[in-house]
Amino acid sequence: MRTQVAIVGAGPAGLLLSHLLARRGVDSVVVEARSRSYVEHRVRAGVLEHPTVELLRAEGVGARMDAHGMPHEGISLLFDDTLHHIDFADLVGRGIVVYGQQEVVKDLIAARLRDGGTIEFEAADVALHGLTTDRPSVSFTDVAGITREIECDVVAGCDGFHGPSRQAFAPTVVERAYPFGWLGVLAEAAPTHEELVYAAADRGFALYSMRSPQVTRLYLQVPADEDVAAWSDARIWDELGTRLGGMALNEGPFLEKPSITGMRSMVAEPMRHGRLFLAGDAAHIVPPTGAKGMNLAVADVAVLADALEHFFHRGSDRGLDEYSATCLRRVWRAEHFSSYMTEMLHRFDPGTERGDAFGRALQLSQLRYTVSSRAAATSLAENYTGLPHGGIA
Ligand code: FAD
Ligand code: DHB
Repeated sequence: MRTQVAIVGAGPAGLLLSHLLARRGVDSVVVEARSRSYVEHRVRAGVLEHPTVELLRAEGVGARMDAHGMPHEGISLLFDDTLHHIDFADLVGRGIVVYGQQEVVKDLIAARLRDGGTIEFEAADVALHGLTTDRPSVSFTDVAGITREIECDVVAGCDGFHGPSRQAFAPTVVERAYPFGWLGVLAEAAPTHEELVYAAADRGFALYSMRSPQVTRLYLQVPADEDVAAWSDARIWDELGTRLGGMALNEGPFLEKPSITGMRSMVAEPMRHGRLFLAGDAAHIVPPTGAKGMNLAVADVAVLADALEHFFHRGSDRGLDEYSATCLRRVWRAEHFSSYMTEMLHRFDPGTERGDAFGRALQLSQLRYTVSSRAAATSLAENYTGLPHGGIA
């Protein structure tokens, strides 16, 4: 099989890249290890920042998001037993849309299949070859057990944190692990609050979010090595009630088994090796507190699609040569914002420097400053609602 761009991974990065390329007249094939049903039902992120929303609309994949997504004009921070509203609309004139990542994935798969795109689901033994030549290829065993090879001009490594693309070369990797994770639940319960609530409680962080007028999404900070079996449904609701102190919560059955996600920051530099370009979680990870993971994946492929259009249609290497540096400026801004939100809102172990009495007092001071200074609140709002794609100084 021959194509212009072989894309490894059908997450938001790989699917959106394939869609953007098709609209720019560039041919691609997507190879995905999992089944279509698996990727369409993987519950992950939920916040689309403003530039993501604008891009999905402009590229013709925003209709279901506009019909079912929940536009929010702010968030609240809960501490000192008080809800403090941060009004994005007032501060920066833009908002966010709460719309599940798996819904974005469904919309993109539907668009690709409607437009005659190729997605090879359930591909095994995916391997990358000839990356430093101008005829790279990707081999895999297809769902029927047949070994196949995609010859191409460019490979896009959109295969997430555990995929083979980053491991195909030796980028410099910088990372930081956090001593906690998030236990996440999806409950069949009508939201009782209109916007997201980030709670910096004494017993640890909690996040109140939603997916629809019938479904609430909630997270609890837990130790990094926590066993999810230690959390019965009753204990989860109890702890949410305590940490979200005072907020009325509707309880309801969980729509999937509670799960725990570890938290880390990671950046691989450069995001390019010869004809291989990394995008999304394959190149960088943020802790989820800033709601940036999926949005960064979208921003990367927006830059990559334009660079590839210039490469294929105008014979220009310039965009590809600048791809890594352009993306990394935005990536590092999101890394900083995500670590700022994480460190301001989570409870650190009292035996550690960040969790001692001094560290805790600094956190509270930062929280109070953030909600009382228009300058500080504007900075949070600007980062949360999303900086423009490309061109960040
Ligand atoms: P992914 O969505 O990971 O897609 C990569 C794709 O590559 C996957 O479909 C995978 O199956 C495929 N793949 C992997 N290996 C191979 C292979 N060998 N061959 C072929 N295909 C392969 N962000 C937030 O902002 N908020 C959250 O609450 C949040 N929760 C998360 C929970 C979890 C468990 C995880 C893992 C991430 C979470 N994130 C969250 C981050 C966010 O979901 C990611 O940033 C986003 O999915 C990145 O998109 P991506 O396309 O780069 O990678
Ligand atoms: C959600 C996830 C996040 O990481 C976040 O910061 C806000 C909301 C969510 O899944 O709804």
